[in-house]
Amino acid sequence: MAHRDGYTAFVSSTAGRRIAGTLGLPQPVALRRHVAGRPLLDGPLLVGGHGDTPALAALRDGLTAAGAALVEDVPDEPRLGGVVVDLSAAEGPADLESLRATLAPALKRLGRCARVVVIGRDPALATSAAQRAARRALEGITRSVAKELRAGATANVVLVADGAEANALGTVTFLLSARSAYVDGQVLRVGAGSATAAPADAERALEGTVAVVTGAARGIGADIARTLGRDGATVVCVDIPAAGAQLAAVANEVGGTALQVDVTAPDAGRRILEHATSRHGGLDVVVHNAGITRDKLLANTDAERWAGVLEVNLLSILRMNEALLGSDGLRDGGRIVLVSSIAGIAGNRGQSNYAASKAGVIGLVDAYAADDDLRARGITVNAVAPGFIETEMTARIPLATREIGRRLNSLNQGGLPVDVAETIAFFAAPQQATASGNVVRVCGQSLLGA
Ligand SMILES: NC(=O)c1ccc[n+]([C@@H]2O[C@H](COP(=O)([O-])OP(=O)(O)OC[C@H]3O[C@@H](n4cnc5c(N)ncnc54)[C@H](O)[C@@H]3O)[C@@H](O)[C@H]2O)c1
Repeated sequence: MAHRDGYTAFVSSTAGRRIAGTLGLPQPVALRRHVAGRPLLDGPLLVGGHGDTPALAALRDGLTAAGAALVEDVPDEPRLGGVVVDLSAAEGPADLESLRATLAPALKRLGRCARVVVIGRDPALATSAAQRAARRALEGITRSVAKELRAGATANVVLVADGAEANALGTVTFLLSARSAYVDGQVLRVGAGSATAAPADAERALEGTVAVVTGAARGIGADIARTLGRDGATVVCVDIPAAGAQLAAVANEVGGTALQVDVTAPDAGRRILEHATSRHGGLDVVVHNAGITRDKLLANTDAERWAGVLEVNLLSILRMNEALLGSDGLRDGGRIVLVSSIAGIAGNRGQSNYAASKAGVIGLVDAYAADDDLRARGITVNAVAPGFIETEMTARIPLATREIGRRLNSLNQGGLPVDVAETIAFFAAPQQATASGNVVRVCGQSLLGA
């Protein structure tokens, strides 16, 4: 797995912190990341909100069972591990005062890598203009708070469907946990429908599932395989034959199997399905991670450069899914997670082909998540859009550009492949039956396209 960059390690030392402080340089902190057995939060969880806080009422017991120590007032000591503010009952902009009143005193008492989670409702389903304005306002407030937070703390929004408040437990717990270290300034949605019971062992949420990860030989894909394996999945690691040795090493490490397939091969989907079925008895999770870049300004991009990127990053997924989503493909309750990019949201100079493919991936999420047949089969489809992640891909970017990409986010540092992997593992879990159609940026609230 990739390690902290040299600068972050430097400012994490006492002397480095003093020098960076004196010179006014960014001072990224080492982010809290998941370690089995550690508590959900490093301090108490302040809960508050507006009106009768219906979401909190539904989540209270579950949060306590997950290990959070709920408090109603800001304690003098210790510092808060997090804050959950329930604005799901907000009827108009005046009600936003409840959010300010809860958050303002709490923000001064947050501990390192603390979490702020604001719960609201989908603005599109509002029944009045005032209600819709208030619902939409939560996004603006939370994104601003996320930019004000220091010391590795994050702020995110969860939108819950009416009557489905209890379904939000998995999403809220994920955002409070160390697994969401690099998820910041995001809006996650939780739909209606019957939720799946919490796993017997929270560290093994994927126990008994079979997952395929494409592009698993290195980089983000290798960490996705490790993280899904850690959480109990049997992982089929897919990559091109040229990466065979690295692929075999990852597959061995995670106790899974390796399958050498170029995802652009016409029969790639069928071969993946056959392998998963014959070796492991079926398929529950597909992570479309394989991707390439062929950067050039559009004026200098020839047809080959254009087609190559679209073929690997987008068309292969469409083609593979014909087999993988067929009636004898992914099992009912299956999970598809796609890897997009913030370049597909914001656009990026020199990456029109790549941005086209990664924006297209978001289009696929929208289409599949709305598909009645897939919904009836309980198959969810979500995407993660990584920002600047420390990999071989980003290590090749020229130094000055790389430093800008790495620092221009609220956490002042690049993410690690495991950060992307944790969000994918969250969506892949059987418990996330009502989270579909999300595109979550794992970007430390990058200023790019924010
Ligand atoms: N690194 C970042 O900062 C970043 C940011 C945004 C999005 N992403 C996306 O994350 C994904 C992984 O990126 P990464 O940084 O780990 O890249 P990487 O180049 O380190 O790894 C990509 C893997 O995909 C494999 N692959 C490429 N073409 C393939 C094909 N035709 N068939 C099968 N396997 C193939 C490669 O062999 C490699 O093992 C990509 O989709 C990328 O676009 C990365």
